[in-house]
Amino acid sequence: MGAGKGYGKTILFGEHFVVYGLPSIASALGTYTIANVQVVNGSGWTVNDQRPATPGYKERKRDEAMQSITNIMDHLNVDVKNQRIDITFTGDLVAASGVGASAAQCTSLARALSDTFNLNLNDEKINEAAYEGEKAYHGTPSGIDNTAATYGGLIWFRRLGVEKTAINRLQSPTKMLIVLVNSGITSSTTEVVADVRQLREEHPKEMDKIFGEYEKLAEAARKALLQGDIATIGDLMNQNHRLLQQITVSSKINDALVETALENGAIGAKLTGTGRGGLVICLAANEVVREEIVGAVEEKGYRAWKTTIG
Ligand code: MEV
Repeated sequence: MGAGKGYGKTILFGEHFVVYGLPSIASALGTYTIANVQVVNGSGWTVNDQRPATPGYKERKRDEAMQSITNIMDHLNVDVKNQRIDITFTGDLVAASGVGASAAQCTSLARALSDTFNLNLNDEKINEAAYEGEKAYHGTPSGIDNTAATYGGLIWFRRLGVEKTAINRLQSPTKMLIVLVNSGITSSTTEVVADVRQLREEHPKEMDKIFGEYEKLAEAARKALLQGDIATIGDLMNQNHRLLQQITVSSKINDALVETALENGAIGAKLTGTGRGGLVICLAANEVVREEIVGAVEEKGYRAWKTTIG
């Protein structure tokens, strides 16, 4: 028997752009998924998914989740012919689009298998196994989600090649007060990533221009984070949201939630993660404003979570 956990994450800058080797900034959340693994007589594996979730999320992601478990088992050479592996997922991370729920699940499973079979996998190996699981959610994951789920903290991440990444820990002198708003809509990362790829093939010049603008923005964001310059971070989040609109990954609901947050005092707001639903991340200057943002979105019927980054 063994157990392991994987953190949820939020992307502050660079979803989608990160798939193409541009830098991204993400933070782990304080909430996580726990995997428990039990070895019993028989063969194959079973899953009991008890994670709290946005309605419809688990159903929509079921096939991908099953494939991701197979990928991780294969990657770690777990014998499922002469023994049965019973997996239970729990934890306080609400499985929803945008919080890195799939990566948290993959990481927790890799850790639980390492624990069960005394594989002594270090974080790098856990991250590699989780990345194999993430491939089931779309063919070309950047790896940022599993990296945040594995290492925790605030990170600057860049995919350098097929299996190569650069990861730097960032430390901001200022704690950022965040509201994550759940649109309740589960989007398909596979579909949205594929659409961006198609857009890039059809409009290379326009997309290159947007990618160039994003790259400058990411560098400015890193600087602002290291200086704890909240006003600039907020402004750059707004600019990042506009670029995400241009690459068609935002939606009416994302834009409306961003608007509500800004009208209620947020310094910056953008979609976070896959987009076309999922989550919106909002930055507040102080606790009073943060409560106002939460109140405003809850009044409209959306769930909001508070967290701190930095
Ligand atoms: C999903 O959380 C983030 C995306 O950029 C996909 C990826 O990085 O693999 C949309």
